[in-house]
Amino acid sequence: MSSGMRRIKIVDLLRSAQRDVEVTVKGWVRTKRGNKNVAFIAMNDGSTIHNIQVVVDVAAFDEELLKQITTGACLCVKGKLVESLGSGQPVEVQASSIEIYGTADPATYPLQKKGHSLEFLREIAYLRPRTNTFGAVLRIRHAMAFAIHKYFNDKGFYYLHTPLITGSDAEGAGAMFQVTTLDVSNPPRTPEGEVDYTQDFFGKECNLTVSGQLEGELGALALSNIYTFGPTFRAENSNTPRHLAEFWMIEPEMAFYDLEDNMELAEDFIKYLVRYALDNCMDDLEFLNKMFDEGLIERLKFVTENDFVRLNYTDGIDILMKSGEKFEFPVSWGVDLQSEHERYLVEKHFKKPVILINYPKEIKAFYMKQNDDGKTVRAMDVLFPKIGEIIGGSEREADFEKLNRRVEELGMSRESIWWYLDTRRWGSAPHSGFGLGFERLLLFVTGMGNIRDVIPFPRTPKNAEF
Ligand code: 4AD
Ligand code: MG
Repeated sequence: MSSGMRRIKIVDLLRSAQRDVEVTVKGWVRTKRGNKNVAFIAMNDGSTIHNIQVVVDVAAFDEELLKQITTGACLCVKGKLVESLGSGQPVEVQASSIEIYGTADPATYPLQKKGHSLEFLREIAYLRPRTNTFGAVLRIRHAMAFAIHKYFNDKGFYYLHTPLITGSDAEGAGAMFQVTTLDVSNPPRTPEGEVDYTQDFFGKECNLTVSGQLEGELGALALSNIYTFGPTFRAENSNTPRHLAEFWMIEPEMAFYDLEDNMELAEDFIKYLVRYALDNCMDDLEFLNKMFDEGLIERLKFVTENDFVRLNYTDGIDILMKSGEKFEFPVSWGVDLQSEHERYLVEKHFKKPVILINYPKEIKAFYMKQNDDGKTVRAMDVLFPKIGEIIGGSEREADFEKLNRRVEELGMSRESIWWYLDTRRWGSAPHSGFGLGFERLLLFVTGMGNIRDVIPFPRTPKNAEF
C-alpha cells in the first residue's frame, strides 16, 4: 500500500548519508534511458531541482510495466539507496519494486523531454510546474513569500488583512475591476436612467482593490507598524512583460516614519530578501543562472553589497536631458518616467539601484505629503536593473486641511474615502509606507524576462485560462 508519510522526498534522499537502506521514493519520470539489460529512470518530485536516478534490472521486471514508464508518468519506487557509480549524482536507487500511479502516453503528453519555449509553456500553464524552470521559479516564489513574513515578524510588524473588495480607488488611477451581482445585460435603473447601485449586493458601486494602502494606513495609526501581503487588481490594458492584471503586493505602513526612514526600510527589506534567496535557493538560482541569465547570481550579490543611489526627481531629469540618449518618450521636468528612462538611470548612468524622490505632485497620488515648494511631493520610487520600478511609496500627507484641499483639487469623491480623511481629524501622525510588487521582485531574483513566468497562473488582458 502506498503511504505518503513513509516516502522520502528526493531532496532528503540526495542529502542522506545513509547507504544500503531500503527507501520508498515517489515522483514523476523526467527521462528513461538504458539498454536491454538495465534502465535508468530520472525521477523528480518537485522538492529539488535535482532528480534521483533509479536503476532497473530489466530482467527482474515485467516488460509491459517497463514500457509504461515514459516521460511524465508517476511512479512509486522501492529499492536500495546506494552510492552511485555514475558521475552527476551522489546516490541512486536500485529498484526492487515499481508501482505506476499514472501513465503519460507519449503520443499525447505535451511535456516531452526536449526544451520547450517559455511561450509554449504559458499555453500549458497547468503542466509547466513540472518543468525544471517552473519548479525552480515556484520554489523561489515560496521562499520569498516566507522570507517576507519572517522579515516583518522579526521586526515587530503586524500582518494586517485588508479587504479585496472595496468602494474606493486607492491610487486614483481608475483602472479597476467592478464587482457586482447585478444582471449586466439588464440592470435596475434609477428614474434618471442611471444604473441603480443601491440594489447591488453592497448597496453601492464596488471594485477589486488596486492597493491595500488606505486601510493599511488605518492599521499603522493604531498598531504603529503593519504590512499587507495580498493580491491586487488593475484593469489597465498594458500588455508588457512587467504588468499583470492580478498581482501580489507587499505594503508596509509605519507610524512616525519620515521619507528617510521609509527609504532605509525599503533598501534593507530588498537586500534581506535577495540575501535570503542567495542563502536558501542556490540550487535553483544556479540552474536559472545557467539556463537563462548568466549574470543573475552576480547581479544578486551586487545588490546586497552596494548602497542604493538616492536622487531627487529633478536631478534625475537633468541627467536624462543631458544624456544625449534618444528616448522614445522625450524627457522634461514634469513627465512621468517611462521604463526606458528608469533603466537608463539604473543600468547606464549609476549602474546601481536608484531611489528617486520628490516627484511632481501632478504625476503622483493624492495621499502623498506635499513639500513646501508647492510643486513636489515626498514620493519615492525604487528603480532596479532590468525591471525599472520595483517599489512605489511615500511619506503620507498627515495634515487634514492639506489633504482635503488636494482631494478637492483633483475632484475626487469624498464619499468613498470619508473614513480615510477622518484619520487626519483625530490623532493624526506622521507616517510613511510603500508597495513592493511581488512579481517584480521575482523577476529580479529569478532573472526571468517576463512577469507571466513568475506567477503560476498569470492574468493579463484577454487571458484568464486555468
Ligand atoms: O506604484 P504603485 O501603484 O503604488 C501603490 O499602489 C501604493 N499604494 C503603494 C504604497 O505606497 N503602499 O504600485 C506599487 C508596486 C509597483 O512599484 C510595482 O512594483 C507593482 O506594485 N505594480 C505592478 N506589478 C505588476 N503588475 C502591475 N500591473 C503593477 N502595478 C504596480
Ligand atoms: Mg508607482
